[in-house]
Amino acid sequence: MADTPRKILVTNALPYANGPIHLGHMLGYIQADIWVRFQRMRGNECHFVCADDAHGTPIMLKARELGITPEEMIAQMNTAHQTDFADFGVSFDHYHSTHSDENRELASLIYTRLRDNGYINTRVIEQLYDPEREMFLPDRFVKGTCPECGAEDQYGDNCDACGATYAPTDLKNPRSAVSGAVPELRESEHYFFDLPAFGDMLKAWTRSGSLQPEMANKLNEWFEQGLQQWDISRDAPYFGFEIPDAPGKYFYVWLDAPIGYMSSFKHYALKNNIDFDSYWQEGSDAEVYHFIGKDIIYFHSLFWPAMLKGAQFRQPTNVWAHGFITVNGTKMSKSKGTFIMARTYLEHLNPEYLRYYFAAKLSNRIDDLDLNLEDFTQRVNSDLVGKVVNIASRCAGFISKKFNGELANSIEAPELLCEFQAAQTLITEAYEAREFGKAMREIMRLADRANEYIAVKEPWQLAKQEGQEQAVHDVCSMGIHLFRILMVYLAPVVPALAKQSADFLQDTLHWDSVHTTLTGHRIDKFKALLQRVDSEKVNAMIEASKDALAAKVDATPAEQAPQTPLEPIAAEIEFDDFAKVDLRVARIVSADHVEGADKLLRLMLDIGEEKPRQVFAGIKAAYTPESLVGQHTVMVANLKPRKMRFGMSEGMVLAAGPGGKEIYILNPHSGATAGMRVS
Ligand code: MSP
Ligand code: ZN
Repeated sequence: MADTPRKILVTNALPYANGPIHLGHMLGYIQADIWVRFQRMRGNECHFVCADDAHGTPIMLKARELGITPEEMIAQMNTAHQTDFADFGVSFDHYHSTHSDENRELASLIYTRLRDNGYINTRVIEQLYDPEREMFLPDRFVKGTCPECGAEDQYGDNCDACGATYAPTDLKNPRSAVSGAVPELRESEHYFFDLPAFGDMLKAWTRSGSLQPEMANKLNEWFEQGLQQWDISRDAPYFGFEIPDAPGKYFYVWLDAPIGYMSSFKHYALKNNIDFDSYWQEGSDAEVYHFIGKDIIYFHSLFWPAMLKGAQFRQPTNVWAHGFITVNGTKMSKSKGTFIMARTYLEHLNPEYLRYYFAAKLSNRIDDLDLNLEDFTQRVNSDLVGKVVNIASRCAGFISKKFNGELANSIEAPELLCEFQAAQTLITEAYEAREFGKAMREIMRLADRANEYIAVKEPWQLAKQEGQEQAVHDVCSMGIHLFRILMVYLAPVVPALAKQSADFLQDTLHWDSVHTTLTGHRIDKFKALLQRVDSEKVNAMIEASKDALAAKVDATPAEQAPQTPLEPIAAEIEFDDFAKVDLRVARIVSADHVEGADKLLRLMLDIGEEKPRQVFAGIKAAYTPESLVGQHTVMVANLKPRKMRFGMSEGMVLAAGPGGKEIYILNPHSGATAGMRVS
């Protein structure tokens, strides 16, 4: 490379240490790894670090549930995660943990600087407290009835049924998801980071033009809503780092998590004689990039740059978000067997297939990416096996059998060679811009050109003709030269295939290798480089995902709170209280899906009034609209109408069951008629 090498540090979001890696996670790690490998191949100094995100309430509770210490649990997870990443070819230079000395020191340093610079304040807040477990409850660990629509069993931050967002203290009938106890309000002093003080700096960053457009839009929305003080402390018991000047108070996991990027790099830098400060001090000329999923943009584009600024460190050069993985067009699902663990995939399929498929579908935008398993099979077979590897397998046999493994001394089709070399500009730009799909399309266009060339020259026909020895040698050598260039271009995506190809070519592949050829060079005997994707194995993987998940609780996503225990009976009421409720038999006139609502159906209910009533019911998972029309059910007819996101709800139907598919509306005998009073 003519230019001076760039100094680059790349990270990908740190996975939580309470669950295994799944294919959704893998998207980000593979995306970042492809970019890193590309940078390294170009001769840049590119470091790639990661770590487990080991702190927080879910991790503390998960360890308790398993009957081990959090330290034991996170150590086991760390090993499992590292093995998964390594087996997918993710080339971290170092993999650390946020529960480490480096992270404790850096978190303390950053906090102390923020405090001394006047960016930390304290305030007493009220929060729900589990008196049985003697702990404050994070929003996700409080469940109850939605204050807006009355749907039961909703989390403390937002309602799945109507989409309302609220504070856990707004929930009706709140319960601790940890113990089932009724939580109480308690006061506690919390520490806050003064995010609003960084408004101008963040706005300037947003306008710099380097952010993804969707990211800049999101940020502008948040600016319009106004930046808030950020609560960075949690009370004991908590698994994390104690705040230096505040015994019994801990850093909220999201404070020390991104600092994990720095501490992982610090550990690695010390061991490898790299100057940590030259990467992180203000004014550093190194580039720092964070790859993340779209769900954690807020933390990375607001809190993190602001914290760094307030503590006199450099800010990231950029934060690059990707979308979410769906499988076969829908959210990954345990019952469908599409919630696939990285390990389950590895037990059935070659990781390079997935790396290629992700690359082929990735752009630099934040769109979600669908892993359609049929398309996956077809695409990998047709591109990698059918187009690329096929070139080598068509030509290599002749070279080894007829020419003792030696390539010809001249280039048979110089224009074609030029075309392959010239494509490097576009492919380089596409990789640099994280437009991997574009790069893959160009590479496959070249592969098509190579196959056309071989098809036209028909070396297998030439081989049968007298005096065509030289032509066979030249054509097959040409095929090998072209194959080699393709493997250079593909190497960031399929490193194992590239390595095997390099061994076969008796060569090492660099980004600049495309400008040389292996004329007169001796290559190895060809061995099959890549098997076709076997759909049987894809099916077996889906089956195994069904089994593995039914039996394994630890496959629940990290964020998910445990199931609420069976509801205890509520406090006694007077008959008069009950008599206030006017229950009526209602005939379901119509039932429809509600656009944008996962759980709701819109029911029109006839109770003998002039007009049917509109009622929203969270029973979509249990009933199809068609099955309800014409049925009778029971509704609360004198419930005050409530405005919901989707319109007015003029009453409520009665239903029983834990929720989801298991919810049953009351269904009186058909002798009942609309409007009858239920008593
Ligand atoms: N621990 C935090 C990140 C802290 S970074 C300082 C976290 N962990 S996570 O395990 O939930 O997610 C790790 C990464 O995987 C995140 O970038 C997240 O967006 C990504 N993904 C998790 N599920 C995903 C999909 N289904 N699809 C694509 N990416 C997904 O968030
Ligand atoms: Zn609701």
